[in-house]
Amino acid sequence: MDLTRRKAVEDVVHQNDAPPADIDSEGRLHQDLRARDLVGFGIGIVIGTGIFTLTGLQAKENAGPAVMVSFLIAGVVSLLAALCYAELAAAVPTAGSSYTYAYTTIGEVFAWVIAWDLVLEFALGAAVVARGWSGYLAGVFNLPDRWFAEEGSVVNVGAIAIVLVLGWVAIRGIRESKWLTNGLVVIKVSICVFVIAVGAFHIDPANLVPFVPPAEPSTGDSSADGLRAPLWQFLSGVEPTQFGIAGVLVAAAVVFFAYSGFEAVANLGEETREPARDMPLGLLGTIGICTVLYVGVCLVVTGMVDYRDLSESDAVADVFDQVGLEWAGLLIGIAAVAGLTSVILVDIVAMGRIGFALARDGLLPPVFGRVHGRWGTPVLMTAATVGFVALLAGLVPITVLAEMVSIGTLFAFVVVAVAVVVLRRTRPDMPRPFRTPLVPLVPILAVACCVGLMASLAVETWLRFLVWLLIGFAVYFGYGYRHARLARRAAAKP
Ligand code: ALA
Repeated sequence: MDLTRRKAVEDVVHQNDAPPADIDSEGRLHQDLRARDLVGFGIGIVIGTGIFTLTGLQAKENAGPAVMVSFLIAGVVSLLAALCYAELAAAVPTAGSSYTYAYTTIGEVFAWVIAWDLVLEFALGAAVVARGWSGYLAGVFNLPDRWFAEEGSVVNVGAIAIVLVLGWVAIRGIRESKWLTNGLVVIKVSICVFVIAVGAFHIDPANLVPFVPPAEPSTGDSSADGLRAPLWQFLSGVEPTQFGIAGVLVAAAVVFFAYSGFEAVANLGEETREPARDMPLGLLGTIGICTVLYVGVCLVVTGMVDYRDLSESDAVADVFDQVGLEWAGLLIGIAAVAGLTSVILVDIVAMGRIGFALARDGLLPPVFGRVHGRWGTPVLMTAATVGFVALLAGLVPITVLAEMVSIGTLFAFVVVAVAVVVLRRTRPDMPRPFRTPLVPLVPILAVACCVGLMASLAVETWLRFLVWLLIGFAVYFGYGYRHARLARRAAAKP
C-alpha cells in the first residue's frame, strides 16, 4: 500500500496556468485580489460567534476577567500558525490550501485526514455560529429561551431555521457580492470598535478583581464522569478544576475557535495578484486586527459586569442592557445578527468547495463533485452538509461544538507546521517568495503551542475527535484509496 503517495508541487502550482483541455479557459480564476481584499475577507470570516458568545461563556465557566488573556494566547498561537501558512500559501498558491499542501508534502493519507478535519471545522463551525445567531436574535426580539437560548433550550429552533434558509441560498448559488461582504465586515468591525469606545466609559475596575479567579474543584454535572476534564488533568490524575491558570488555558483552547477561519485566506492563493507579498500581509493583518479587537471587547465586557453575571447567549449586547444602555444593547444585537449571517453562509459554501476538491481528486465519489447545470453549485454535497449542520445546530450545546472545531483546527495547524519543515528538507530549492522566519524554531513552537492547547481540551472532545477520524479512515480505505486519481494514474502506467 502506498499511503504517502504525493502530488507534484509543479502540478499544483501550474494547474491554474494551463487548465486541462476539458475545462473551458473561461473557468480560470481571476487573479485580482490584493492584501487589503484578503484582510477584508479574513475579518469577514473570522469575527463571529467566538467573540460574541464564547466570551461570556468562558469568562463565566473558566477564566473570569482573564478571558482576555485567553484570547491573547489563542491569537499568538494563530500568529505562529499563520507564519507557517504564509510560506506555503505564497509558494504553493492553491484553492485547496492545507489539504493540497499535505498532498504535496507528506502524502495522501495525511491530506485526507486534513480534508476530513476541514469538513469538521466548517460544518461544526456553521452550527456554532447558527446557535450564536439564534441567541442574539432572541435578545433583540425577546424570544423564548426554550427555543432560542443556550441556557434552557432543548431544541434550538432558531439555529435550525437559519441553517435551512442559508442552505437554500447556498444551493441556489447566490454569490455574495463583494459590496455585501464588505458591508458586513464594516458592520462587524464597527460593533467591536463601538463596544470598546462606549463600554470603556462604563468599566468598573472592581469587576476586574480577581483577574484570575482562584482555582476551585469542578462543580455540577461537568465533573460527573470526569470526561469533561482537560486531557492533561485526566492523564496526570490531577483533580479537575475550574478557573485558576489551568482555567485560562482551557478557555484559550476553546476561544481558539474565534480565530478559526483565517486559514481560508490561504485558499485564495490562486486568485491573488502577488501571492508572495499579499498572502503574508493578508494572513498576519487579519490576525493582528482581530486580536486587538477581541482583547479590547473582552476587557470592556468583563469590566462592565461581574463575570458571574454575564449572559451565556448574548453577552456583548447584554452587558449594555445591564448598565442601562438598552439602545446600545439593541443596536449591537441587530448588528451581531447581521454579521453572523455571513459567516454561516460562507461556511456552508466552503463545505461545497471541499467536497468538490475531494471528488476531483477521486477521494470521494464523483456524485459529490457534480455541479447543478443551472445553479452552478455542488447540490448534493451542499444539501448533505445542510442536513448535518441543521441537526447539530438544533441539538448540541455550543461549547461542545466549539471545542470540536478548536481541536480540528489546531490539528490542521500542526500538520501545516510539519509540512513547512518537511518541504524545506525535501525541496530546498523550491522558490519561496515568503519564508517562515527562524525555521525550524517557529514551526516547532507552533506545534508545541497547538498540542498544548489541544491537551487543555476535554477528554470527551478528544474521544469525539478520534471517532470522527476513525469514520474518516473507514471512508478512505473503503473508497478513496482505490479510487484516487493518483491510484488510477499509477495503474495506467505501463
Ligand atoms: N471564527 C469564527 C467565529 O468566531 C468561526 O465565529
